[in-house]
Amino acid sequence: MPVHSHEIKMYGEIKLFAGTASPDLAQKIADYLQTTLCGRDIILFPNDNLFTKLHGSVRGQDVYVIQTTAAPVQRNLMELLILLQTLRLDSAARITAVVPYLCYARSDRKDQPRVPITGRLVADLIEVAGADRYMTLDPHSGQIQGFFSIPGDVLTASHLMTNYVNTNLRQYLKDPVVVTVDLGYAKKGRNFAASIDTPIAFIEKRRVANDAKAEALTIIGDVKDRDVFLVDDEIDTGGSIVQAVNLVKEGGARRIYIAFVHPVLSTDATKRLAALPVTEFITTDSIQISPENCALLGERLTVLSIAPLLGEVIRRAHEGRSVGEMFNE
Ligand code: R5P
Repeated sequence: MPVHSHEIKMYGEIKLFAGTASPDLAQKIADYLQTTLCGRDIILFPNDNLFTKLHGSVRGQDVYVIQTTAAPVQRNLMELLILLQTLRLDSAARITAVVPYLCYARSDRKDQPRVPITGRLVADLIEVAGADRYMTLDPHSGQIQGFFSIPGDVLTASHLMTNYVNTNLRQYLKDPVVVTVDLGYAKKGRNFAASIDTPIAFIEKRRVANDAKAEALTIIGDVKDRDVFLVDDEIDTGGSIVQAVNLVKEGGARRIYIAFVHPVLSTDATKRLAALPVTEFITTDSIQISPENCALLGERLTVLSIAPLLGEVIRRAHEGRSVGEMFNE
């Protein structure tokens, strides 16, 4: 049979590997792609060194490593790096690091003397370990892309969230307004508001220390007697969102919804969220939420899966097809 040039694939089969950080998401991506996760051992030796071993060869294959880098960050990051190097040493043809939540992305510049730019360091580590490409979702700032010299797909969960709102909530909302938790999220907030056809307001926030404390100052815009959609990229300690909820409540907000992409939920953030007068918390599975934290938020928690999005992008990357097409770009 003649072989036509358009039928020739540059790489072998899709091979999916996962670290231990988000097994449920990895399985869902595998299900979407109608494949199975490849076997590997990840062992922590008594001396705290990690060891990995692949169950089968990846020579010549198109390999994707799914590993979110949420807490425990150092462990999860090292797992990712060691898996990448293992795959490189086994002669994979192409390796893509699929990192839904990219750690250290908030450290993207020297904003004071004598500090590191850890976001850059992580990008370098991922490349040096063996990744040819990377994929990530809503990184804390867009300029993170400039830290990588390998190509990447920097995706957003905003379509997923706004589709959910338009399908399930929009018709029940009274005079809704989107409010961004800080000015850094203004552009994404504006897109969110445009997609669900609402006005927008902003909270002006000033960070005052390195110890994760923040201070919310004022609302720019109108929230009185409106249903409020607070939007942000992540909830970490919950400090910013608690202040934001209090501020919009004082401003006369009716129902409050919170939409955030990454459920970092450090320390006792979930307890603080559970105590808030919030109708619904909408987030994604970019980071796996513990059963205890799910129980604390109960039916008010909606977790939208990013698996179909990542699965489709993996498929398109494998087949050399446009990803922008998925978003009419
Ligand atoms: C900050 O610039 C981010 O957009 C989030 O607002 C922040 O990371 C949330 O952190 P926390 O929950 O600790 O206030």
